[in-house]
Amino acid sequence: MEKLIIDTDPGVDDAEAILMAAAHPNATVAALLAVGGNVGLEHTVRNSLAIVEVIEQDVPVYAGCDKPLVIFQEDAAFVHGQDGLGDVGYVPQTRQAEAEHAALALLRMANEAPGEYTLVAIGPLTNVAVALKLDPTLPEKLKRFVVMGGAVTSQGNTSNVSAEFNIYHDPEAAHVVFEAWENYGGLIELIDWEATMRHGIPEEVIQRWHALDTPRSRFYKDISAKTMEFIRKFMGRTMMFGADPLAMAVALEPDIVTKAEVRHVSVELTGMYTRGQTTTDWGQRNGRTPNCNIILEVDSDRFFALMEQGLK
Ligand code: BDR
Ligand code: CA
Repeated sequence: MEKLIIDTDPGVDDAEAILMAAAHPNATVAALLAVGGNVGLEHTVRNSLAIVEVIEQDVPVYAGCDKPLVIFQEDAAFVHGQDGLGDVGYVPQTRQAEAEHAALALLRMANEAPGEYTLVAIGPLTNVAVALKLDPTLPEKLKRFVVMGGAVTSQGNTSNVSAEFNIYHDPEAAHVVFEAWENYGGLIELIDWEATMRHGIPEEVIQRWHALDTPRSRFYKDISAKTMEFIRKFMGRTMMFGADPLAMAVALEPDIVTKAEVRHVSVELTGMYTRGQTTTDWGQRNGRTPNCNIILEVDSDRFFALMEQGLK
C-alpha cells in the first residue's frame, strides 16, 4: 500500500493525477499540500478542496507557500485557466483547508510515521524546500520522493526555453531540494517534461474517457477543454499531455517504468535562458553523487489505463 502525500498546484493535470491516485486500489491519499504555481495559492487551495469533493474521500488540504522563495517568474494560467481548473466554475461546496501550514504538516506526518509516506511533488518545490530548511533530515524520513519537474536535455516548456515550469517557477527551491537529496545520498524519482512529451495521450484515448460519461469523466472533460484548445492552437496537436499523471503513475506502480537512468541533476539559478534549467550529468563527469533516477520510458498502455481508472 502506498501512502501518498501530494504536493500540488492544481492545475488541470494535477487534478487528473489526484483522481488517479484516489482510485488506485493499492494507494491512499493521506494529504494534499497546496502551493502557488500554475495559479496563485488562493486558487490552488480552492481547487484542491474541490478535487477532494470530486473524489469523495476525507483528505485534508493544507495551504503552503504562495510565492516562490526569491523571485516570481511566471504562472501558467494561460494553459490551465485563470482559476487553474479551466474556468468552468468548479468550487468547493463544503470543505475547508486545515489551519496548519503545508510544510509543517509534511514534517509532522513524516515524523509520525518515518519511512512510510511517499511524497509526490507535482508543483513548484517551494513547500518542500521550506520543510527541508526546517528539518534537513526529511529525506531519510520518506519512503520515496517522486517529482514532476525539469527537462533533462533542456527542452523546456517556459519562456526561458531550457527550463520546465515547476522548476522555473521556483529555481531556488528546486536547487535546495535537489542538493538535499544529493547530500542524503538518495534518489529523486524524476519525471520530466521531455518524458511527458514522449507519452502524449492520443485523441482516441481521450474520446474513450469522455464516453465514460461518469461524474469524474465529465469533471475531467470540463476542466481540460481549455488546455486541449491551447495544445491545439499553440502546439498544433489534437492530444493531451499528462505531466502530473505520468509522475503519479510512477508513484503508484513503479514497475510501469521500462527505461530509467541514474544521474546527477543540478538546477541553474542564473542566465537569461538557463535560469531554472535542470543540468544533467549524462556523461558522469562531475564526480558528484547521483541524486535522480530519471524516468525515460513507461508502458503507455498501462499509463492510460491508470488514468482511465481515475475517471470511472
Ligand atoms: C508541470 O507544470 C504545470 O503547468 C503542470 O501542472 C505540471 O506540473 C508541467 O511542466
Ligand atoms: Ca502541477
